[in-house]
Amino acid sequence: MNNANALKRSPMSDAPPTTEPAPAPRAAPGKWAIEARGLRKSFRSGQQKVEVLKGIDLLIEPGEIALVMGPSGSGKSTLLAAVSGLMRPDEGSVVALGQSIWEMPKSKIDRFRLLNCGFIFQGFNLFAALTASQQIQTVLKFMRQGKAERKATAEATLADVNLSHRLNNRPDKLSGGEKQRVAIARALAKKPKLIFADEPTSALDGENGHIIMELLRKCAKEQGATVLCVTHDARLASFADRIITIEDGVITSTNADPAQFKH
Ligand SMILES: Nc1ncnc2c1ncn2[C@@H]1O[C@H](COP(=O)(O)OP(=O)(O)OP(=O)(O)O)[C@@H](O)[C@H]1O
Ligand SMILES: [Mg+2]
Repeated sequence: MNNANALKRSPMSDAPPTTEPAPAPRAAPGKWAIEARGLRKSFRSGQQKVEVLKGIDLLIEPGEIALVMGPSGSGKSTLLAAVSGLMRPDEGSVVALGQSIWEMPKSKIDRFRLLNCGFIFQGFNLFAALTASQQIQTVLKFMRQGKAERKATAEATLADVNLSHRLNNRPDKLSGGEKQRVAIARALAKKPKLIFADEPTSALDGENGHIIMELLRKCAKEQGATVLCVTHDARLASFADRIITIEDGVITSTNADPAQFKH
C-alpha cells in the first residue's frame, strides 16, 4: 500500500464530502511527524497466534490531527502503542520526529517519550496516591521544571479542562470523566510535540468532550503538536484533519469522509 499517494487532507467539520483526487502529500520525504512502515504484531492466545496488525503503513504530517477509527478489537490501541514506542512490533519501523524509534535502546525510547510525547490512555493510568495537581507536577518534575512553575502549570492546565475545583482530589474522589480530564491535562501540560490519545472522550459528556477536542486542536494549530487519536466517538470526526479507518488489523482508508461518522 502506498499511503503517501493516498493521503488527502479532508475538509473540516461540516464541509460536504469531496470526490477530488488526492493532492500530493504536503510533507516532504523524511519530514513526516510520524512515519510507520510495515507494522506487524501478533499475540499468542493458548496455542493460537492472533495477528492483530497485518502490515500497517501510517504517515502523519506535523501539526495534523489524525483520528484512527475502527471496530472494537480491530487493533487501534495496539497500533497506537507500536507507533508511540510503548510496545515493540514484530516487524516494521517507526520514525517519529526524525528518530527511528525501534532502533533505539529502551532508555532512549523512554527519554524520547518523556521529552516529546503526551499520552492519554484508554484506562487513564493515574497514580492512586496523588492529587490531580500532583499527577501533573510529577511529570513536570521529571522534565526538570522548578517547583513554582510546576504548580502554576498544573493549576493552569487543570483550569483548561474545567477542574480548578478538583486540584487537591485524589482519583478515588473523582468521577470517571474527571479522571479522564486529569489524564488529559497531564498529557498536555508539558506541551508535547506528539500527542497520542486512546479514546480521550470515552467518559465525557458532549460539553466536556467538546472542550477536550478544542484543547487538542489548540495544541495542534497553535503549538504545532501532531495528534494521533484513536476513537469510537463519531462526535470527534469534525475536529479531525483526517480520518484513518482500520479493520481487522488493516488500514482500510487513510482519508475517510468525516460525514460518514456523524450521528
Ligand atoms: N497483550 C495482549 N495479549 C493478547 N491479545 C491481545 C493483547 N492486546 C490486545 N490483544 C488482542 O488484540 C486485538 C486488538 O486489540 P486492541 O486493544 O488493539 O483493539 P482496539 O481496536 O483498541 O479495541 P477497543 O476499541 O475495544 O479498545 C484484540 O482481539 C485483543 O484481544
Ligand atoms: Mg483500544
